[in-house]
Amino acid sequence: LAAKEASTVAAPGFANAPLLDFSRPEPVAAMVQALAELRAGPELEIAPDTPVHEVRNPAAPEQVLARFPLADPAQGEAAVARALAAFAGWRATPAAQRATCLRRAAAAMLAERHHLAALMVLSVGKNWREADGDVAEAVDFLNYYADAMEALAGWWDTISFPGEANRLGYEPRGPALVIAPWNFPLAILTGMAAAALVAGNPVILKPSRPGLLLGQALHRLLLEAGVPADACQLLPATGAVTEALAGHPDIAIIAFTGSRETGLGLLQAAHRPVPGQYQIKQVVCELGGKNAIVVDSDADLDEAVPAIVASAFGYQGQKCSACSRLIVVGDEAAAEAVARRVADALAVWSWGPPEDPAQVFGPMISAEARDKTLEYIAIGRQEGRLLYQGAVPGEGWYAPPCIFTGIQPHHRLAREEIFGPVLAVLAAPDFPAALKLAQAVDYGLTGGVFSRLPAHLALAAREFRVGDLYLNRKITGARVGAQPFGGTRLSGTGIQAGGPDYLKQFLWTRVVSENT
Ligand code: SER
Repeated sequence: LAAKEASTVAAPGFANAPLLDFSRPEPVAAMVQALAELRAGPELEIAPDTPVHEVRNPAAPEQVLARFPLADPAQGEAAVARALAAFAGWRATPAAQRATCLRRAAAAMLAERHHLAALMVLSVGKNWREADGDVAEAVDFLNYYADAMEALAGWWDTISFPGEANRLGYEPRGPALVIAPWNFPLAILTGMAAAALVAGNPVILKPSRPGLLLGQALHRLLLEAGVPADACQLLPATGAVTEALAGHPDIAIIAFTGSRETGLGLLQAAHRPVPGQYQIKQVVCELGGKNAIVVDSDADLDEAVPAIVASAFGYQGQKCSACSRLIVVGDEAAAEAVARRVADALAVWSWGPPEDPAQVFGPMISAEARDKTLEYIAIGRQEGRLLYQGAVPGEGWYAPPCIFTGIQPHHRLAREEIFGPVLAVLAAPDFPAALKLAQAVDYGLTGGVFSRLPAHLALAAREFRVGDLYLNRKITGARVGAQPFGGTRLSGTGIQAGGPDYLKQFLWTRVVSENT
């Protein structure tokens, strides 16, 4: 694709944090030590209060890792009042100083990356590499939005006339409620919070409940980096308390990543006028996906198969970017042949506790997530043919990875987001039909194409209208600044995270026109 270079420059100087190389002994030793410290150390012993949420190890659910008191509605209200009181001071803090706080937090995060990754391994069941990638992405968000805000700050000349000078500037909106998911418990929470904060908005961090330990860690790092306590509050809370806050007149911004149902509910709650309403809330939503990889008839399967396994089964399919449909150009037999290759590749890997670095795949986040996957496996058995079912440990919240062939576009397995390790395989008679089928869902988050035909890749770039389209590579693992991330249609509000336009959602623009 011909691209205009300047349009990609939003954060001059930004570079992605390198990932750890677990083929080397030092990072392995550091992770082993971090996991051992967590098992032995006092950090996970948090004084109980009522009501509490117990964070459990999904690979060994009898292990309670931490107990967090959950806020009641009055505590939620108090947090909003504190955030509002902090707004004037944080807004007046120069953008460069706010950016410095983010960069300090990024450096501190890198310094304790093994500890943070180990927290994730234990509390949300990520394998080492995925956990490290999550930490690196969080670091990237901090640095990227720090650079982006510095680039945006100040006044910009618009068109001026003789005797009239016109300027445009950006300024924060007010208290932001940041509601984060459990599947990227550090990266996504950090991304939304960093953008809101560096833009000058006080934030209330509402981490997911399984991700509370990471929320607590981020909160500590931001405060240690110099963000005032009232400008960055941690609010462990239930969905009901959060939804009530979403309608609060003093909340100016809601940044949410999670399920479509919750996101659409928040949009309604945010935009229903309430007594005392004095602003239109900005709602930034990143919702679900029902993502497809199209395998063309000439595709290089040696390249496609490992990418499909990683996209569909990485972190047990619990990513909004995950591939849950495989669309093969050809007849049912061709689809079955590709699916068989994927199954053979998948069968090489075992599923087990992610504390063990030999395990690539681990447990589901909760018993409910496991049960939901098992329900879809039962549905798949009725709708299609079970081509492959993997073996999983009996203890822990594991769901077996499954591949179903013979799935038709109207089947539930072809339309509904499962958020688990279930891959539906469909056949399409030709490449344009495959692209159409790929988009015959109401989501538009990620998509992928494997083809050797430049004309087909170009057609996909034009007409496969998802937020993040990947050609001849896996469809998960977007990097900040490289693949700004977010979807079209019912996958979200559409301005991508880690990209040139994201920060502006957290700002007003104002114009000053002076008769000179
Ligand atoms: N950004 C993640 C990915 O690309 C999903 O949230 O996999």
